Amino acid sequence: MLPHRHIELRLQQAVRAVLPEADFSAVLVRPCPDPKFGDYQSNALMALARARKLNPRQLASDVLAKLDVSEICEQVEIAGAGFLNFRLKNSALAQALQAATRGEHLFFDKAAQPRTVVIDFSSPNVAKPMHVGHIRSTILGDCLARTLRLLGHRVITDNHIGDWGLQFGLLIVGWKKHLKREALQADPLGEMERLYKLVFAASQADAKVLDEARQELVELQRREPEHLGIWQEMRDLSLSQFSTIYHRLGVKFDHTYGESHYHARLEFLVQDLIAEGIARESEGAIVVFFEDVPPLKEHPLIIRKSDGGFNYATTDLATLEFRLDSWKPDEIVYVTDGRQQLHFQQVFTVFHKWRQANSELRTQNSGLKLAHAWFGSILGEDGKPFKTRSGETVKLADLLDEAEERALKIVSEKNPDLPEAQRREIARVVGLGAVKYADLLPNRQSDYVFSWDKMLALQGNTAPYLQYAYTRIKSIFRRGEFHEPEIAKVGDSRSSSLRIEKLAAPEEIALAKHLLNFGLTLEAVAEEYRPNFLCNYLFELAGKFTAFYENCPVLKAEPAVRDSRLALCDLTARVLKQGLETLGIETVEQM
Ligand code: ARG
Repeated sequence: MLPHRHIELRLQQAVRAVLPEADFSAVLVRPCPDPKFGDYQSNALMALARARKLNPRQLASDVLAKLDVSEICEQVEIAGAGFLNFRLKNSALAQALQAATRGEHLFFDKAAQPRTVVIDFSSPNVAKPMHVGHIRSTILGDCLARTLRLLGHRVITDNHIGDWGLQFGLLIVGWKKHLKREALQADPLGEMERLYKLVFAASQADAKVLDEARQELVELQRREPEHLGIWQEMRDLSLSQFSTIYHRLGVKFDHTYGESHYHARLEFLVQDLIAEGIARESEGAIVVFFEDVPPLKEHPLIIRKSDGGFNYATTDLATLEFRLDSWKPDEIVYVTDGRQQLHFQQVFTVFHKWRQANSELRTQNSGLKLAHAWFGSILGEDGKPFKTRSGETVKLADLLDEAEERALKIVSEKNPDLPEAQRREIARVVGLGAVKYADLLPNRQSDYVFSWDKMLALQGNTAPYLQYAYTRIKSIFRRGEFHEPEIAKVGDSRSSSLRIEKLAAPEEIALAKHLLNFGLTLEAVAEEYRPNFLCNYLFELAGKFTAFYENCPVLKAEPAVRDSRLALCDLTARVLKQGLETLGIETVEQM
């Protein structure tokens, strides 16, 4: 068992002895923010004391009297208003590392109670190129899916593409009148975008065109074969373009139902909401009013327009219903930009009303958590929304090409002697890694400035820096002429064990303790949907490794010390690789 879990269980037992009726699920142990005070900390007792009007320091000392963690911790300390600080014994640290070298864990546990989590991300729109706005959703969502899966949860990813709605009226008009087949073949999304823009402009200037588009839309919604055929072709072409990008990014979806999947359900849903007294008619439209929800009071939600059309939110409600039915999730996470905050507040609120009104929904999904993991914009170096030099929105495919080209230049300057195919492969991994990391590193809710130089730098908190740190560790093994089986032996307790007497240098201990926090970091990412926690953890790991490597000779150390240091190197490399993989970033052995 990992030390923090051991402490947590013992602490929960001690709390139970003092406060038998308390809820222990919130009695948690976290890394201590300042290593001066210890390795782990719990602030749970303060909340328990507050809720019972007890003196928190008194409660802490009562719990401490019942707490026995002496096998793995030094004397536990009460600090401040009632924190408990724990410092690991070196022997416990050694044991945890030893278990990791034996492959028993990589410093994280699988969830004791796995949850079913639906992640709705990427979700671009058919007949439009994916732009950088979708990149954040794709990269963040994929990282969250990877993190939750790694922790043993059941994850279902659903790409909710925009494949239904008004734009198809305009697109069908364009398709029938202006389509250039050759252009469509060469660049399907480019041609569809051209058609859309052309007819959109025409419809602004001429009401007749707008009428035409409306008529085409009605035909499509009636499922006229010709219209359905055009629509299907546009959808297929778009999906195949999207899948090229997903393949390149290493992103997979379990489902791509898309908005069209719910169309037939929308009228029933509206009727249901009317029957439950949640929606009502107003000026010809069907509307949900939120008189009882102060922040939404001014924002009624139209679920059916007066012309009979449905809205984005109506589809989201139907989607929610479908997902609950199909997968019985404990949690649904939507990853979109911050401009959709109001939309999701409305959808979630309607859903909660609906659940209260509808006993079937209520009993089925009592613990369901709905979360909007929203993010800020990507800005150009001028601080304005990120655009190409000519002012167009940047297309994702072009962006990825440029990343690889720039990386190739850097790699070729550094390693002119490597064969070209290898340089290209390194450039691919480094270029894509840099773009992804730049997206994951900032707090997702803040805007960030897109800077090639910054994200591709080999120094600083970047993907190339971490990828490089990984190759440096690998090169230690190469220089020592260790091969895989011998490395495995290093980690095998029977032939050579990692003994803490041999890991005495402060830099070694700091590195080892940081390794132990990998799982807690992953859990925090999953809890708050914040991959930046993992980025910063890995950056710190690379820094602690550097400090260790500068102060502690590895290959030149006497054999026993050398072996345990090699094991530490190997564990660091494995955590770096696993951590980067969880961010969706690949590694190479040499760069
Ligand atoms: N297609 C939408 C857009 O491009 C994003 C959809 C997000 N998911 C959802 N269930 N509403 O803005």
